Amino acid sequence: MAKNSADETIKVMKQQVGIAAANRVSSDSIVGLGTGSTTAYAIQHLGDRLKSGDLNNIKGIPTSFQASVLAKQYGIPLTTLDEVSKIDIAIDGADEVDPHKNLIKGGGAAHTREKVVDALADQFIVVVDQSKLVEALGTTFALPVEVLPMAIAPVTDALKKLGGEPELRMGVKKDGPVITDQGNMILDVTFEAIADPATLESTINNIPGVLENGLFVGLADLILIGEIVEGQPCV
Ligand code: 5RP
Repeated sequence: MAKNSADETIKVMKQQVGIAAANRVSSDSIVGLGTGSTTAYAIQHLGDRLKSGDLNNIKGIPTSFQASVLAKQYGIPLTTLDEVSKIDIAIDGADEVDPHKNLIKGGGAAHTREKVVDALADQFIVVVDQSKLVEALGTTFALPVEVLPMAIAPVTDALKKLGGEPELRMGVKKDGPVITDQGNMILDVTFEAIADPATLESTINNIPGVLENGLFVGLADLILIGEIVEGQPCV
């Protein structure tokens, strides 16, 4: 398939899966709004449903500055975890999904807030295209770890001792590191396939200076997958 046509197919898969997730949201609910290109379609469709009157009285809890900008753009009222005690449903993307519904997230550097919101949701729906499915986590995507800037050097050493190859994430222009919404930096850590995600998740989070890593173990309730069936994108 030519590159442009492959990109267009992935875009349509992301759009369809985002819309399918947004259609699962009921009126009078608190909705966790994830980050990334797939969730952006879900946020847009939630806005469309509100506008058409098909959905009423929802409030969103954004997982990033990007999600809050999109929510405002599409007319979704926002709230915070100071105002509500529970989240009914969260919709979020992922960078890898294994057969046990464990995830790697953080391709958009938002996994710290995403984990807070997604973990609090009664139902956490993951929206991905089929390219994100893997047999073992860590095989196609380096694990994002959010780190306090003053602790980059010791955390890098500690991650190397765990068998990882950490690399500081740089911005698109490569003239400085990516800075998270919390003012921290991201180390992308390449491991050979991650055999025990639960243990690695807590081991990394115990390194002083680590805010959060992108392993989401046992949190996802439902994975919605955009696929190509008989040449056509579908969910
Ligand atoms: C952001 C994330 C995203 O959900 C993840 O990177 C997937 O993004 P996309 O839907 O654009 O492929 O974890 O931190």
